[in-house]
Amino acid sequence: MATDEAVQSTNDDASECKMSAVRLGYWDDKFVHILVRGTERKPPEINRGYFARTEGVGIFVKKFLKKAGEKCQIISFGAGYDTLYWRLKEQHYAFDNFTEIDFPTVTARKCYAIKRSKVLLDGLGVSDGEVRLSSTELHGGNYHLVGADLRNLGEVATKLRESEINYDLPTLFLAECVLVYIEAASIENLLSWLVQQFHNALFVNYEQVNMCDRFGEIMLENLRARGCPLSGVDSCRSLETQTKRFIDSNWDGARAWTMVDIYAAIDPSERHRIEEIEMLDERELLIQLFQHYCIVIAWKGEMFDSISLTDYDD
Ligand SMILES: C[S@@+](CC[C@H](N)C(=O)[O-])C[C@H]1O[C@@H](n2cnc3c(N)ncnc32)[C@H](O)[C@@H]1O
Repeated sequence: MATDEAVQSTNDDASECKMSAVRLGYWDDKFVHILVRGTERKPPEINRGYFARTEGVGIFVKKFLKKAGEKCQIISFGAGYDTLYWRLKEQHYAFDNFTEIDFPTVTARKCYAIKRSKVLLDGLGVSDGEVRLSSTELHGGNYHLVGADLRNLGEVATKLRESEINYDLPTLFLAECVLVYIEAASIENLLSWLVQQFHNALFVNYEQVNMCDRFGEIMLENLRARGCPLSGVDSCRSLETQTKRFIDSNWDGARAWTMVDIYAAIDPSERHRIEEIEMLDERELLIQLFQHYCIVIAWKGEMFDSISLTDYDD
């Protein structure tokens, strides 16, 4: 149980880092401050790293939405305090269903914050009476926040059903720094189950890679020292092990890039803008960080098989 608590607390780190970067103007997020308060300023390479992560995941979310059309759904695993739902709504993106899953301890805190925020409740686009709430779960309009342990497939299936997930619709699965905390066998069960249930799907996974070199070992030691078991780290050895995990679980195909390539693919005017925000003393450190994180996409069905990083016509 103590280790689960350490894993849950990684959400506080992630959201505080996002808050630090948002406050400095790296990207626009009018909602994160409602969920995260009083954070200190993080070092420039951390702010840039989180910028690349948010933009990078955003590139694939938008490619998915463009291909899938409005009748689609997004399922975010280990969503923590992520604000993507509200940011997409603000930008007038349409989808049928957006479901977030995390441990009940984490969803309880997010539920409480949503309940108390007019801005977040208004973002659901329904009247108060149409929001169904418990201490750990919230269902309002096309937004669903549910508590489950991703290692327990029965629980995940029940929560997806309660969230009115339609297995026939094109579906995007997101996991941002989540799978690395879960044993390989549980992830394989989850990925194999998803690919059996959904016919048209795209999975976007952001997490560590190249963990076998000295820099990677130090990153792992730091996380372990905080009591976080990195049970899924075997799949983070290389881009090949990252894609193999999906292929072995019967996904039709997979591609992966380190954050060096992802950063290079971000709109140059955006890169120039954020590079002006803060002086970076340790450029080498940022590059090393980028070499040790990646985005992996995997697809089922033909709708998403052409999605890549540089398919600019998409
Ligand atoms: C590093 S945080 C990332 C949060 C969010 N995805 C983001 O990037 O801001 C990892 C999240 O995964 C969740 N998580 C890890 N293992 C989980 C499991 N077995 N079941 C449900 N959630 C899990 C944690 O509770 C935590 O909120």
